Amino acid sequence: MMPLKRLVSSRWMKVPAFALCLAPLFLLAWRGFSGGLGANPIEFITHATGDWTLRFLLITLAVTPLRKILRWPELVRFRRMFGLFAFFYGCLHLLTYVWLDKFFAWSEMIKDVAKRPFITAGFTAFVLLVPLAITSTAGWIRRLGGKRWQMLHRLIYVSAVAGVVHYYWLVKSDIRWPLFYGGLVVLLLSYRGVSAVIRNRSGLAGQRELKVRQPIRPSP
Ligand code: HEM
Repeated sequence: MMPLKRLVSSRWMKVPAFALCLAPLFLLAWRGFSGGLGANPIEFITHATGDWTLRFLLITLAVTPLRKILRWPELVRFRRMFGLFAFFYGCLHLLTYVWLDKFFAWSEMIKDVAKRPFITAGFTAFVLLVPLAITSTAGWIRRLGGKRWQMLHRLIYVSAVAGVVHYYWLVKSDIRWPLFYGGLVVLLLSYRGVSAVIRNRSGLAGQRELKVRQPIRPSP
């Protein structure tokens, strides 16, 4: 195994990976303490937490294609951590809105979710992540069964699409970043689609081959 692969595959690697996932939060806190949040700190925090929610969603979605393309199955050990960090930054993003932006003005927020399409899309993206975070444990995989758990966790794609739509709708002029993230989601979805088609075809071919090799015996 290559030295880098061996290093990343080692058991203790989860600790630095966890610290790395927390780095955006520490950076934000450090900026906060050193007065580096700019003229509108609430907007800065909203943008930073929103960006990291979307980035972690995409990183989580990229794990399966990467482990297959790079023939590196051990990468799957990090998927749950990345997914939970997407949820964590999503919670911070929502909390910034609820606490710092709206200061718990619930009726105003309900109106916002109902009337402002970009908030509706963001809220949808967040709500879809809740069941995924709850059922991310080994106990829930056992309880639901592998197939049903996998089906449920495909909601992450819907959440990522809603997250991109949310971003696209909120930007006023420069749509380059939402388009970039949207392109990545399309790429990841296409990979999934193409590999499912290939899997189905090879499954069918395998079944046909079995039938040819084992002709049904005529009943006596
Ligand atoms: C998975 C869920 C979500 C994702 C991925 C997400 C992502 C984003 C992104 C990428 C941005 C723009 C950051 C930038 O400009 O650099 C943003 C901004 C924002 N988001 Fe979200 N978001 C989510 C959920 C929510 C929710 C639930 C709310 C509120 C109910 C919300 C409210 C906002 C607001 C108010 C802004 C700033 C809008 C502005 O600049 O005018 N987001 N979000």
